[in-house]
Amino acid sequence: MNHTPLFIPVILGTTRQGRASENVARFVLGEVQKRDGVETELIDIRDLKLPLDDAGEAIKDPAFSAAITRADGIVIVAPEYNHGYPGMLKHALDTNLKEYIHKAVGICGVSKGGFGGTRVIEALLPVLRELGLVTIFWDGNFSKAPEMFDETGKIKDEATQVKRMDKFLGELIWMSKVLKYGRENISN
Ligand SMILES: Cc1cc2nc3c(=O)[nH]c(=O)nc-3n(C[C@H](O)[C@H](O)[C@H](O)COP(=O)(O)O)c2cc1C
Repeated sequence: MNHTPLFIPVILGTTRQGRASENVARFVLGEVQKRDGVETELIDIRDLKLPLDDAGEAIKDPAFSAAITRADGIVIVAPEYNHGYPGMLKHALDTNLKEYIHKAVGICGVSKGGFGGTRVIEALLPVLRELGLVTIFWDGNFSKAPEMFDETGKIKDEATQVKRMDKFLGELIWMSKVLKYGRENISN
């Protein structure tokens, strides 16, 4: 078994000014950082500055593609916009393809309403499958997200959210390990 650390970046999936998803992404990043044997970083799609007059692999951001190439798993923090995902998140995800194949992904849905972004999660799942990612059966659900954090960006009900993230990350790390083993040892 290869004991090099796993790399599991967190994608912040909106460019919106005032986004509550940024607090969620920073909280999730902190929880990933607590895990032994896992390295991570925040990928803010706002920083990619992707052009809008083209799409797909033609507009790859080299650093983003390198991070996904290195990744064993991915967390996507996805706000719910009109029961779907932000167009800018899809625009960013579409810039890679082979980089995603046989890698694990988990989604943290973020919503103002009380359903924890379940509708954006359901909408995003078939996209991730087409990209070659392997989805896990746990999600993160952040309901009433604008009220979940204090003015410094600290999560209010930390104990509950840490416990929920523990289940989610446990499954994502397990799947990331399994797929890393598979990529390295099982021919396809
Ligand atoms: C264009 C748009 C559409 C939205 N649609 C929904 C929705 O369908 N359901 C919901 O619960 N919240 C909706 N919201 C609120 C966001 O989910 C809320 O702002 C949440 O904090 C996550 O998005 P944010 O990171 O941009 O703040 C919408 C917000 C915007 C900007």
